[in-house]
Amino acid sequence: MSKSVSGFSKFSKSKKIDWIVDTYFANKEDAKNILKQYWNSNERLQQLHDEFIENTISNYYLPLGVAPNFLINNRLYTIPMAIEESSVVAAASKAAKFWIDRGGFKTKVISTEKIGQVHFMYHGNFDNLNRFFEKVKPQLITETKSITKNMEKRGGGILDIELRNKTNEIEGYHQLHATFETVDAMGANFINSCLEQFADTFKTEATNFDGFKSGEDIQIVMSILSNYVPNCLVRAEVSCPVKDLSEDQTIIAEEFAQKFIQAVNIAEVEPYRAVTHNKGIMNGIDAVVLATGNDFRAIEAGVHAYASRDGKYRSLTHAEIDNGIFKFWIEIPLALGTIGGLTSLHPLVKLSLELLNKPSAKELMQIVAVAGLAQNFAALRSLITTGIQEGHMKMHLMNILNQHNLNEKEKFMLIEHFKTNIVTHSSVKEAISKVSSSVSSNKNNIKGD
Ligand code: MEV
Repeated sequence: MSKSVSGFSKFSKSKKIDWIVDTYFANKEDAKNILKQYWNSNERLQQLHDEFIENTISNYYLPLGVAPNFLINNRLYTIPMAIEESSVVAAASKAAKFWIDRGGFKTKVISTEKIGQVHFMYHGNFDNLNRFFEKVKPQLITETKSITKNMEKRGGGILDIELRNKTNEIEGYHQLHATFETVDAMGANFINSCLEQFADTFKTEATNFDGFKSGEDIQIVMSILSNYVPNCLVRAEVSCPVKDLSEDQTIIAEEFAQKFIQAVNIAEVEPYRAVTHNKGIMNGIDAVVLATGNDFRAIEAGVHAYASRDGKYRSLTHAEIDNGIFKFWIEIPLALGTIGGLTSLHPLVKLSLELLNKPSAKELMQIVAVAGLAQNFAALRSLITTGIQEGHMKMHLMNILNQHNLNEKEKFMLIEHFKTNIVTHSSVKEAISKVSSSVSSNKNNIKGD
């Protein structure tokens, strides 16, 4: 049985590792070596990573890939994607290539408003609370001036603060519901600092307000931004005449368009399908969000809440044929930043942003939405034609091969073989055993010679 440990966060990195390997690992040296193998040889860079979080013992790599040929509003982009799933970058690149010949992606930012709330309890008369709120509202703004000064210089700041009565949901529950513009910052720290100041001012001033009767006091529960940002919306779209949808004679364009729309419609009404459909969209979105140093958990939470905004979980993408034109689009909330956070710290994040030509947050919203739409297009295109496994397993081939101890020659022969054969786990195993025995019999022949 493992032991508990006290003061762990104060241990040095090597003492932390010693404790872990002593407590949990049979082969202590192996475990230590694996952890150390992933340390960066550049000590400053390693220290930077060590200091991102508490108790860092090593680095956890994800591949950083790129998907070129994305034509977005008539401008070409190569999109960086950090992801482990083998087929995602290939699918994005394929979708980009497909749409570059059909006018590319058209995008638009619809709104950029962020939200934060001070949640509090008040069991008195609502009119008294409302009078107090109206009186204190200007002070809520002025007392955050030291926090908002720089943001205002960049064109952002507090947009509004509302008092909301939520007593029909929980007895005594009220909110200060605030809206913000954070320009190129994701804005989490800015919003949370403003909210905590609102809460302080609100509580302090309440004790000085003579319009409250006895017992009409305010208890702050918490102050925190919301990751649900339905008014921080971006739209991305592709369209082309239906007849242009076919790349070769194997797919009839009209049939493809019909099946594609049926597939999207199914995801609009059937939550079991919608979740997988949207997961495919998030393959593209998360990969770019991660590569550009943004918070993919915040994006995930907000996007899925948006997908169920009418009470039923639905597709994030939509498709139609209008007058012979096939249209496919996405509308999603994305609260992203291109300054602050990891964006100026992590060298690969800086590099990814430079690859995208140092976008503003609004531009990044559009690029990310395109990555999601492209990913969904690629997935649906496979699903309604060849099925997903053909492309997926082709990309997964390297992972399966890497699980076996193959030499370069064996790998090469297998990759060649599977250019024309279907990849499944069992077909790969069978081919590996044939290739390995032919390579070893060749070796024996050479020895014999
Ligand atoms: C796999 O990561 C994503 C898909 O399942 C998405 C979809 O079904 O639309 C292929």
